[in-house]
Amino acid sequence: MSDLFSVEGKTAVVTGGGSGIGRMVAAGLVHAGADVVISSRKAQVCEATAAELTAEGPGTCTALPADLSTEAGCRRLAEQLAEHTDRLHILVNNAGNTWGAPLEEFDDAAWDRVLALNVKGVFHTTKLLLPFLEAAATDDDPARVVNIGSINGIEPPPLETYSYTASKAAVHHMTRHLAWRLAPRITVNAIAPGPFESHMMRATLEAAGDVIAAGTPMQRIGRPDDMAGAVVFLCSRAGAYVTGHVLPVDGGNTVAGARGPRG
Ligand SMILES: NC(=O)c1ccc[n+]([C@@H]2O[C@H](COP(=O)([O-])OP(=O)(O)OC[C@H]3O[C@@H](n4cnc5c(N)ncnc54)[C@H](OP(=O)(O)O)[C@@H]3O)[C@@H](O)[C@H]2O)c1
Repeated sequence: MSDLFSVEGKTAVVTGGGSGIGRMVAAGLVHAGADVVISSRKAQVCEATAAELTAEGPGTCTALPADLSTEAGCRRLAEQLAEHTDRLHILVNNAGNTWGAPLEEFDDAAWDRVLALNVKGVFHTTKLLLPFLEAAATDDDPARVVNIGSINGIEPPPLETYSYTASKAAVHHMTRHLAWRLAPRITVNAIAPGPFESHMMRATLEAAGDVIAAGTPMQRIGRPDDMAGAVVFLCSRAGAYVTGHVLPVDGGNTVAGARGPRG
């Protein structure tokens, strides 16, 4: 069974891997023996995380900073990656941002900033890293793309984050579209996280973490192992026959009728 769930020796890119959910994913893959590249805008954060995760091993972690909200930035990542490796078994498109404003004030900037990274960034990164993924894929062991969506792309939240929810629904549907296009050499799945501690979620969890945990069937927010376990499953031999799906890792938040504290 350890072989069935192994990602040892695989190469991976985790975008936004310096913090939050991306760091949870990168750590899980490094701890499972993969060689992981993390990429986001803040070079110092990426480099510090890469050094910490490499020290934990047994895999390695390397920082290749890039701004993935533009096609040119995604190309820069591909060019840097080419100096590092010619094949990529795993791409985790995790980098994302959000925006909240009252409906009447929700302007173009609130759409452009979020869609540029959360939707177009996922598409361009996947497109530009395809040659690496195709080089790593074999008939028995397809390369893997895992897109980080959100339960907000399944059920809208009670927050005024219109471009974010639309972007995550788009990620889920683009996942299905790309899965059809890239099979059988590459699987494409999405994970829809529920609440996990991160920079993006800090204010929400500080203000309402207890209420959110109480309203979750599993009665807690997500832990790093919850995220790492789902990614390792999808990226190991165990996940080789799963493509085009959205896996909620949400403690049951999207189960029908699970809204509000349980009584
Ligand atoms: N935490 C949750 O509860 C939750 C729930 C559902 C979905 N998600 C999703 O999980 C993903 C990670 O978010 P998080 O919650 O872990 O928040 P986070 O800690 O704020 O992480 C966001 C990551 O994206 C990177 N990033 C932002 N803009 C970028 C850009 N232009 N180019 C490249 N990288 C960029 C950030 O690094 P830099 O600042 O260095 O660029 C950071 O590493 C997002 O897609 C989010 O929508 C999170």
